[in-house]
Amino acid sequence: MSGDLRLDRLAKTFPNGTAALEELSADIAAGAFVSLLGPSGCGKSTVLRLIAGLEEPTRGRVDWPQTRGSLGFIFQEPTLMAWASAAKNAALPLELAGAPRSEAHARACAALAKVGLEGFANALPRELSGGMRMRVSIARALVAEPEVLLMDEPFAALDEFTRSKLNDDLLRLWAERRFTGIFVTHSVFEAVYLSQRILILSGRPGRLIADIENPAPYPRASGYRTSPEFNATAREILKALEDRAA
Ligand SMILES: Nc1ncnc2c1ncn2[C@@H]1O[C@H](COP(=O)(O)OP(=O)(O)O)[C@@H](O)[C@H]1O
Ligand SMILES: [Mg+2]
Repeated sequence: MSGDLRLDRLAKTFPNGTAALEELSADIAAGAFVSLLGPSGCGKSTVLRLIAGLEEPTRGRVDWPQTRGSLGFIFQEPTLMAWASAAKNAALPLELAGAPRSEAHARACAALAKVGLEGFANALPRELSGGMRMRVSIARALVAEPEVLLMDEPFAALDEFTRSKLNDDLLRLWAERRFTGIFVTHSVFEAVYLSQRILILSGRPGRLIADIENPAPYPRASGYRTSPEFNATAREILKALEDRAA
């Protein structure tokens, strides 16, 4: 299907000789929500950086639906400018793209409202909780309405309550916007809760060891976390990991 993002035998060895990614091929359908799951150091961040064009692959290629312009990136740390307000931080991609300042500000405020930060436009990062800072980071990633949203363990540093809440908010935003979501995590449970599909990578150098469909419908409310359907998919993933380890 046109609009799909295609990873074609993607591989990366760094100049120092570290083989981060051995080979990864996957077609990711436009509008899908896919998780990339694997142990620390298996090349997950590298895959996102290759998709974003921040690194060049050693072999293979990334085929994009249209252009690379339409891309949002959420990092593990919120990476906000400490001296700038939430609105100024969220407006950054638009200002870099040359949007008039007043328009950028208005769209940034709308994006902040979307992530539950109405009324915090003028707050500085240090005045916000960790979860709220991550919300600003999400608003910044979505402000330009990207077709593809890359997320690199965005909630790993948050407590479980905040993380569950942000999982739900993220799914709500995805339902509204239908960006293609690629979510990196090392949590089996977070991957299951969020995704339609889970790509499991082996330890370094990363290689695809399983490609698991999660047929559970959306919206997924918190009851899904303790449902038999949730467990079935989690078990399938754990089994793929065990088989690999054996
Ligand atoms: N710029 C780099 N130069 C050399 N080695 C790197 C570089 N970036 C990452 N690596 C190494 O590549 C491997 C995969 O890294 P990464 O993609 O960050 O893994 P993950 O995100 O799954 O934890 C790790 O061993 C890491 O140390
Ligand atoms: Mg990483």
